[in-house]
Amino acid sequence: MKSFDRVINRRGTGSAKWDGHAQMGIPAEALPLWVADMDFEILPQVTEAIKGRIAHEIYGYSLPTDSYYKSLQGWMQRRFNWAIEKEWILTVPGVVPAINLALQAFTRPGDAVLIQPPVYPPFANAVLGNGRKLIKNPLIRQQEGYRIDFQDFEAKIKEGVKLFILCSPHNPVGRVWTPQELKQMADICLKYNVLIVADEIHQDLAFPGVRHYPLPSVDAAYSDISIVCTAPSKTFNLAGLQTSNIFVPNPKLRAQFEAAARCWGVGKVNAIGLVACEAAYTYGDQWLDEAMAYIAANKDFVRDFLAENLPEIKMAESQGLYLLWLDFNALGLSPQELESFLLTKAHLWLNQGYTFGDEGRGFVRLNTACPRSRLVKAMEGLKVAIDDSFRDKRK
Ligand SMILES: Cc1ncc(COP(=O)(O)O)c(C=O)c1O
Repeated sequence: MKSFDRVINRRGTGSAKWDGHAQMGIPAEALPLWVADMDFEILPQVTEAIKGRIAHEIYGYSLPTDSYYKSLQGWMQRRFNWAIEKEWILTVPGVVPAINLALQAFTRPGDAVLIQPPVYPPFANAVLGNGRKLIKNPLIRQQEGYRIDFQDFEAKIKEGVKLFILCSPHNPVGRVWTPQELKQMADICLKYNVLIVADEIHQDLAFPGVRHYPLPSVDAAYSDISIVCTAPSKTFNLAGLQTSNIFVPNPKLRAQFEAAARCWGVGKVNAIGLVACEAAYTYGDQWLDEAMAYIAANKDFVRDFLAENLPEIKMAESQGLYLLWLDFNALGLSPQELESFLLTKAHLWLNQGYTFGDEGRGFVRLNTACPRSRLVKAMEGLKVAIDDSFRDKRK
């Protein structure tokens, strides 16, 4: 049996996904396919590295070692053909903290910050929570997936945007932006002197045959205006270890970012996260390739199941991520009705689309980083619930 098929009981581990029902007011029987972590067993070398570190029994303040930086440089070179300098790398406990630090380091209250909804909810929260002005450049939905509205993008940027939070690849719609698309956006930002915080936390999750391009790797000129946020957390299922790597090639921006991180006391990461990250980037290539092939097949399963059994539910075509973006608007439910239907009738705990912005109303995000058998159960449960509740409508 492939290890990705193995069903692992995560209950009783304090898992947000599996143990969070009562705290979040979710019915106990709802199958959790929401927050973006994986139900797979992780790369064994990561566990070994953690055990090795734990054996020392002292866990004081820790710094990245030379071998840590080398593992990161090696990974970025092998996977993306991007040579990064050791000096560019800053460690912080998360990408969301990094986005907030960037907003505080590079913008002032009231400054305009652009995002591309539907998009990861903490982007809007960070902009609004820091008292900045939220500017939206909604993605355009098409049969074959989502695309960028470049005309609107330039018009909004021109109005005085200070900073753009790019999600590349894009959560939740699963687009892996092409170099042409990245170029078009970054050239506009260069032209109008706009900084780009590129959240590339999903960088490693392109499907086989698809390539992700770190923004500054498209054109070295973008190095000057880019803050690239990465982490091994999504890729290797290490989100609970709170370790992220931020690449800031421009020394002036780097000093500003570092000052903000120091101010908040978040310039250091945890001792266990450091060794886990190093092991993942040193030994993880094959595991990741196998995981992505499995996840791609999971996506095919969901697409085929929906086409055959629930054709009114449309899946956005994606090139990566273990998150699928499903359009339930054909059911004609309000966002609250849809949420309640999914939780109480289909017994599925998913991310509700409206939390990704108004553009996500009627959509849900489904996490497919789980054994196939779990997805089969989820899809079959969904079909029964829709058959039962919408029988008349579906005839
Ligand atoms: C686009 C994006 N950015 C950031 C995060 C979370 O980052 P962190 O846990 O490092 O703060 C996620 C998690 O799903 C994400 O999808």
